[in-house]
Amino acid sequence: MSLSPALRYLQQHHDRFLAELEAFLRIPSVSTTPRHKEDMAHAANWVADNLRAIGAREVAVYPTAGHPVVYGAFAAAQPQAPTILIYGHYDVQPPDPLEAWESPPFEPAVRGERLYARGATDMKGQVMASLKAIEAAVHGGLPVNVKCLIEGEEEIGSPDLADFIAEHREMLAADVCLNPDAGMLGPEWPTITYALRGLAYFELRVYGPAHDLHSGVYGGVVHNPAQAIAELLAGMHDEHGRVTLPGFYDKVRPLSPEERAALQQLPFDPEAALLAQTGVPALWGEPEYTPVERLGARPTLEINGLYSGFTEAGAKTIIPAYAMAKISCRLVPDQDPDEVAEQLRAYLQARAPRTIRWELDVMTGAPPAMTDIYTPAVQALAQAMEATWGTPPLYRREGGSIPVVGQMQQILGLDSVLTGFGLPDSNIHAPDENLHLPTWRKGMEALVRFFYRFSDTV
Ligand code: BES
Ligand code: MN
Repeated sequence: MSLSPALRYLQQHHDRFLAELEAFLRIPSVSTTPRHKEDMAHAANWVADNLRAIGAREVAVYPTAGHPVVYGAFAAAQPQAPTILIYGHYDVQPPDPLEAWESPPFEPAVRGERLYARGATDMKGQVMASLKAIEAAVHGGLPVNVKCLIEGEEEIGSPDLADFIAEHREMLAADVCLNPDAGMLGPEWPTITYALRGLAYFELRVYGPAHDLHSGVYGGVVHNPAQAIAELLAGMHDEHGRVTLPGFYDKVRPLSPEERAALQQLPFDPEAALLAQTGVPALWGEPEYTPVERLGARPTLEINGLYSGFTEAGAKTIIPAYAMAKISCRLVPDQDPDEVAEQLRAYLQARAPRTIRWELDVMTGAPPAMTDIYTPAVQALAQAMEATWGTPPLYRREGGSIPVVGQMQQILGLDSVLTGFGLPDSNIHAPDENLHLPTWRKGMEALVRFFYRFSDTV
């Protein structure tokens, strides 16, 4: 059982690994679009086949109420080895707007050091880094038991995964979960994520007149639903960028002075990096918190989409019958998505005028999560990263959400070690999503080293 044959195997088979990733990326596994249901099944079977090809046992594609879950397991070369559960998702975000891509989203293309395709970083590239690290370690003599849980509903909030986890407790039993769906702060800065925000997602519909009206004939006597929704939405923040839903901050865990100090220790200027990444003229948000704190440790409310009335070219003079907004809140410990839904409802009950009718749908919810960094698994990963990059990892709180992390904590009492090999300019959820291949390669090496270190430390 040794590291060097495994690392050599990675180098020797790298071109084939890249070709396999490209094949995986050609399957348009968009979970949110019903039209892609067959592609989803195809992607699940593709993962199952790849697991079988590298020697997994108990490989199965489990149907759920939504998209299937893929499972496979590998036994360590020696008994009494610890068990790592590796999580991944094979679904991707929709690729639109298509015209903004330089090459088509499901035709992977290498330009320079990057591979461009929807899902390249989020997270088919991370799934393949994990599977190929296992394959290489199997070649060197697998030092740990490995179980793989690859789901198809992460990008829609993992609505069926909690039930699946609860129904397969024994199958999923492990010492730690490795979740490579988080990213790195830069190609030279390996990163371990110790907190994720949760999510509460809503659709708000505002109804006015029974149908669109002539805005001259009725303007002045009918409350315009577009205006009403704008007033409601505008009132959800105060002038300091704070969310006004009643009780919204009651359960927010305050940052300790120690953590605030630790979060300031970054090898770059976060404000400059954020300005460059986003292209906005200035940053926004609660002035008493730094941008890093606002992203990782403070909750938000965002308007994700807004629709009403006439939006085509030209002019049309109407009072629309209807207006709609998609709204989501990012949550931090110890907020709860169900309680936030009640807070939004209470806000609307108190503030909506009698001149309109409103409906609120709760769409997805994911709990926030925080994990301990003083554990053998995190130490082993930190050492593996340092051996690979020559520098110890940075520890960060992530602003995005991964529902499974809180679900596993709540249902199995199992903590996740969060990492990943995507970069801030990987354009996840955006046009020209890409994977930085040299970092991907280092990521595989770090995972192989992690398996061997972890088996030593436990
Ligand atoms: N991989 C992302 C989350 C992420 C983004 C982690 C950046 C670390 C860095 C994940 O696939 C994702 O996008 N999650 C969704 C979840 C939601 C639909 C419940 C998100 O955060 O919007
Ligand atoms: Mn995503």
